[in-house]
Amino acid sequence: MTHWWRHAAIYQIYVRSFADGDGDGTGDLAGVRNRLPYLRELGVDALWFTPWYTSPMADGGYDVADYRDIDPLFGTLAEAERLVEEAHTHGLRVLVDLVPNHCSDQHHWFQEALAAGPGSAARERFWFLPGRGESGELPPNDWHSYFGGSAWTRITEADGTPGPWYLHMFAPQQPDLNWEHPEVRAEFEDILHFWLRRGVDGFRIDVAHGLAKKPGLPDVGPDPDPTDLPYQDHDDVHDIYRSWRKILDGYPGDRIFVGEVWLPSAEQFARYLRPDELHSAFNFDFLCSSWEPAALRDVVDSTLAAHGPVGAPPTWVLSNHDTIRHVTRYGRADTSFDMGDKRLGDPSDLTLGRRRARAAALLTMALPGGVYIYQGDELGLPEVQDLPDAVLQDPTFLRSGGADRGRDGCRIPLPWQPGGAALGFSPDAATAAPWLPQPADWAPLSVAEQTADPDSFLTLYRTALALRSARLTALPETLTWVDTPPDTLCFDRAGGFRCLVNATDTPVPLPPDATVLLSSAPLEESAEGRVLPADSTVWLDMN
Ligand code: GLC
Repeated sequence: MTHWWRHAAIYQIYVRSFADGDGDGTGDLAGVRNRLPYLRELGVDALWFTPWYTSPMADGGYDVADYRDIDPLFGTLAEAERLVEEAHTHGLRVLVDLVPNHCSDQHHWFQEALAAGPGSAARERFWFLPGRGESGELPPNDWHSYFGGSAWTRITEADGTPGPWYLHMFAPQQPDLNWEHPEVRAEFEDILHFWLRRGVDGFRIDVAHGLAKKPGLPDVGPDPDPTDLPYQDHDDVHDIYRSWRKILDGYPGDRIFVGEVWLPSAEQFARYLRPDELHSAFNFDFLCSSWEPAALRDVVDSTLAAHGPVGAPPTWVLSNHDTIRHVTRYGRADTSFDMGDKRLGDPSDLTLGRRRARAAALLTMALPGGVYIYQGDELGLPEVQDLPDAVLQDPTFLRSGGADRGRDGCRIPLPWQPGGAALGFSPDAATAAPWLPQPADWAPLSVAEQTADPDSFLTLYRTALALRSARLTALPETLTWVDTPPDTLCFDRAGGFRCLVNATDTPVPLPPDATVLLSSAPLEESAEGRVLPADSTVWLDMN
């Protein structure tokens, strides 16, 4: 019996946009509890909840003010406890999002630090440093925030004098914690215990590569080596995960850490997955790959090569709450993804994008390892690229002065019904519109419409997840490439299972004696027999 997490299908719930139980236009825990049967029927193994903690929502909850309570927008701690229990009753495990790199500027530690004044112990839990220049008017170093602008903000002391600067690798409302400080370490160990005692099955670790900084916080310099940046992947970070792993392993059940590790080299990435550190991490190389067979094959090979030596299972991810919905990405002329340049507004052929997204779903689910499904992937939702400026909430939009339109377009509330309040996202008695508007033409994409349609995205996901559980998850984590025409990808798993992906724009023949298990598009007949149409994937039984 292998560990569940080595082959799990994990569904990401962006709580604000999943389902609104109380009618205030924002998704909440009541909404999730109502929809647990949907998630069970979808056939996933676990749920990952994006941060549900008390937060001023400067970054959608990734600015945590209290790690041990639930934001009132989402519900109460008692409700979260019930949700964990109910999910378990439905056979669904629960992962919560841990945000250790930074907290909210409203967290009591940061408020204390501001009030305590210069040189105080309370300021040592963060990175408060004097500025450079004659009167400290320049930031302490040249680091940039991932959200644009300097990574430093200068404070004004209580007496009105200009004070030191504090570090925030993200928004100014997200001060970075100083992981050299023993109280920071102790606090997060206690937070782990707090949620483990409440039965959670693991943690997704936000910005897992970022906690430890290079001592002295040196400048990046004009021509930085991307594999050696002072604000990420410092060796000390691994000690943190080793100590956390001991805590986790002290609890019964098969609990896990999943790291959000964005790093340029596979060697750096794999170090987080050593047997005494994290169990797995998101495979962003795959998410960023273009829909081209050679590129896809390379990334599958390099993924397997990086994970093998550390014994960790690979994961396959197509989209998340920070990226472009892959239906839209795959319909563009350039199908790759770059976090630094999302090219929002680039034209996309959504019919083509949907076709490729269906093919990609079957590819990822056939590969050895775990898969992540971002809410709405199973409905084939596109990115919403034409949100008016007035509704945009993402700090990346605001911090970049509008140059980056941000991540709101992949966070639109889910359509559940073809009609009703916010297409069933909110109850009929809703008192407010959804926090982001849904496109007028999303009714046919709703869960209810797709449930009734045997050819829908949702039906494909349900069928594929069920087949995957029945045929693939117990197999050895290996694949064998099969020689097929150029621009196709074909591999065998044990037990006679074959996956064939046609990423060309013309049909390719199927092996004559194979039994078709599932295909992402209807197969066609030619004079030579059955063919797999362009941009589609088929699962075959070769026995
Ligand atoms: C991660 C999250 C992202 C958030 C950032 C800062 O990248 O996925 O949504 O903005 O961390 O916490």
